[in-house]
Amino acid sequence: MKVLTVVGARPQFVKACMLSKALRSNNETDEIIVHTGQHYDDNMSAVFFEQLNIPEPDYYLGIGSGTHGEQTGNMLPALEKVMISVNPDAVLVYGDTNSTLAGSLAASKLHIPIAHIESGLRSFNRRMPEEINRIVSDHLSNWLFCPSQAAIENLKKEGINKQVYLTGDIMYDAVLYFKSHASQQSTILKELGLSESNYYLSTIHRAENIENPERLKSILEAFQQLNKQVVFPLHPGTKNKINEFGLNDLITASHIKLADPLNYFDMLALASNANVILTDSGGLQKEAYMLQVPCVTLRDETEWSETVETGWNHLAGANREEIADQVMECHAPDESPPIFGDGNAAQQIARILVND
Ligand code: UD1
Repeated sequence: MKVLTVVGARPQFVKACMLSKALRSNNETDEIIVHTGQHYDDNMSAVFFEQLNIPEPDYYLGIGSGTHGEQTGNMLPALEKVMISVNPDAVLVYGDTNSTLAGSLAASKLHIPIAHIESGLRSFNRRMPEEINRIVSDHLSNWLFCPSQAAIENLKKEGINKQVYLTGDIMYDAVLYFKSHASQQSTILKELGLSESNYYLSTIHRAENIENPERLKSILEAFQQLNKQVVFPLHPGTKNKINEFGLNDLITASHIKLADPLNYFDMLALASNANVILTDSGGLQKEAYMLQVPCVTLRDETEWSETVETGWNHLAGANREEIADQVMECHAPDESPPIFGDGNAAQQIARILVND
């Protein structure tokens, strides 16, 4: 079986890494990797390929940044050309980025079966670009690999019930596989002068937060009120917006530790030792749960409803007081049921793809 994997943005490299290992561990599949170039800075892309030992992409499309229409639109003819030339039996797409949408659209027009990994997630907020990307990709896909039971239910409600598989979350595979390696290899705590369980970790990059000056300001003001150091690795898009809106003064306090985007091992090491994670990232909300670290989500809703229901994740939106209170009050619940499966999602997905 010949599969064409489409990746482009940081979280997709982590997910694809695990399935790529599983697919390449048997001789029945031939995997060709296309990188759209949605994320292009070395610390957003190359470092992940190197560290996670992902095979070099066979095709690099170099699409880069742009408006959603531009970015997605520019990907389409480039992906179509590769798909026609490779003529795969299936196209694999991951998550909810513009690269996922373009990969699904290009494949569906060429009648190539699509496998969507991390299918069925819904925030029920169609103003999020990611929500549109997931809905379209799910409805175009032939195999829908769901990380959780809630995802299966979401698809059922939209009338999708064929070829829907509950495999667990592929990011959980990655956390289990790399966690101890990350804690041995990473020196980030030392570099930043941090001691274990004595800091908060925060990331922000969602359009709803960074493109809205009031929300961004309010979140950064909440950081000022926190009673421990806040490690804040800056996504390039967030850095641009902080400059554009003149909010730099809000990140100069001595307890706010700015960092460039982190590699996967440093991120895992920092996340596992944090007291609380504050984020608007979907992936980091899950990783917090997997690493048993409480999370405060800087959004008004989440796709990862089980993390909230189990008491590990708290929605604080962008409200300054709410964020500060939640972060300083939240604590780890006693139990963390296996809502993301058993860490064998990639093996299951590979088996289903090959045998189907
Ligand atoms: C994208 C995904 C989001 C995912 C996130 C992970 C979409 C709609 N969003 O958001 O689902 O959670 O990736 O990071 O696909 N930039 C750089 N260097 C880079 C990459 C981006 O400077 O290597 C800057 C550019 O100014 C760009 C901005 O970041 O305009 C946003 O990048 P983009 O790829 O549009 O979306 P993300 O916010 O990264």
